[in-house]
Amino acid sequence: MRTAAALVALAATATVASAHWPGADAANARKRHSDIKRSSGYQLSGYYAGQDFLNLFDFATGSQNGGLANFVDQETAWNQGLVEVKKGEVHLRTASWVNPDGNTLNAIKLTSKAAYAEGLYLWDIARMPQVCGSWPAIWSTGPDWPNGGEIDLVEYVSLQSKNGFSVHTGPGCWAGSTGYSAEGMLAGANSLNCDAHATDSQGCGFRTTQNATCGVGANAKGAGVYALEWSSAGIKAWYFPRGQVPQDIKDKNPNPWSWSTPDMYIAAEGCNPSTYFQPQTLVVNSNICGTWPEGVWHTDGDYSGQSSGSCAALTGADTCRDYVLNSAHDFSHAYWRIKSFSVYNY
Ligand SMILES: *[C@@H]1O[C@H](CO)[C@@H](O)[C@H](O)[C@H]1NC(C)=O
Repeated sequence: MRTAAALVALAATATVASAHWPGADAANARKRHSDIKRSSGYQLSGYYAGQDFLNLFDFATGSQNGGLANFVDQETAWNQGLVEVKKGEVHLRTASWVNPDGNTLNAIKLTSKAAYAEGLYLWDIARMPQVCGSWPAIWSTGPDWPNGGEIDLVEYVSLQSKNGFSVHTGPGCWAGSTGYSAEGMLAGANSLNCDAHATDSQGCGFRTTQNATCGVGANAKGAGVYALEWSSAGIKAWYFPRGQVPQDIKDKNPNPWSWSTPDMYIAAEGCNPSTYFQPQTLVVNSNICGTWPEGVWHTDGDYSGQSSGSCAALTGADTCRDYVLNSAHDFSHAYWRIKSFSVYNY
């Protein structure tokens, strides 16, 4: 979420990742072995849906990254209908009107009461924001940013359909170049450098090669499950579209070793999690405009799955800010429907 202006100018991506696993046969043999050994290693420590989900969080107030979102307290959120539990799902909305200050729209930023470290975290999302100017994210941050680490599990803007996974750390944390399937978002020498200071705050970001892994594309398929595994081996993240959620997740007996190659893998070899990550506070928010959406407002987004054209072209507005302040009613599309959040530990 500490996205620097540098990121927004990106028009191309460098392929830094490869899904190939060297020594496939030996690795498969090891994997099969570890599947057997570890298949029931993770135990459910918490399953949160509806009000139980909301009880995990506080409503943070203020603004973020130069955005127009005015994050409101819990009472305001309920009074204005921005939060609701319906059919077991948590709806998190953005106001579709401009505040009397003429500059902001009310929105929600949930921050977890607890901090979370090693474990497996599953976010089952039914629907996510899809509108030009939105900047939704599910992320987490440790103390003393960036030294306590930041992990962005869901992040995209506007009508982008390829999710961005990233981590931001202090100096010395490098992503490897194998063991995951997404593509580096930054080109050049720092594309695998997760050090926030060396990358103008961006850290190491990875965009899925597969389309429809967030936003409008994911919604069309009923959205899906985002998974994050933090273990001594490193930090891995996956997106599973609704029709392709592994059966072991549905059975509440998840076995990450049996899943597909992760979208992102920050391996301990280049970035020991115990050095670079402290227990993380989870955040779910929907920002509006701000550095990233404004910065790519005029950008055609083939690389990000926004093949429908730039938001400038689609809306006819010259800036994100102009568009939002004149078409706030479109922010009725900027809502989340969250089915559940679950935590597994050894
Ligand atoms: C990616 O998904 C979006 C949203 O469904 C769609 O508009 C776009 O055309 C897709 N891009 C490609 C290359 O298939």
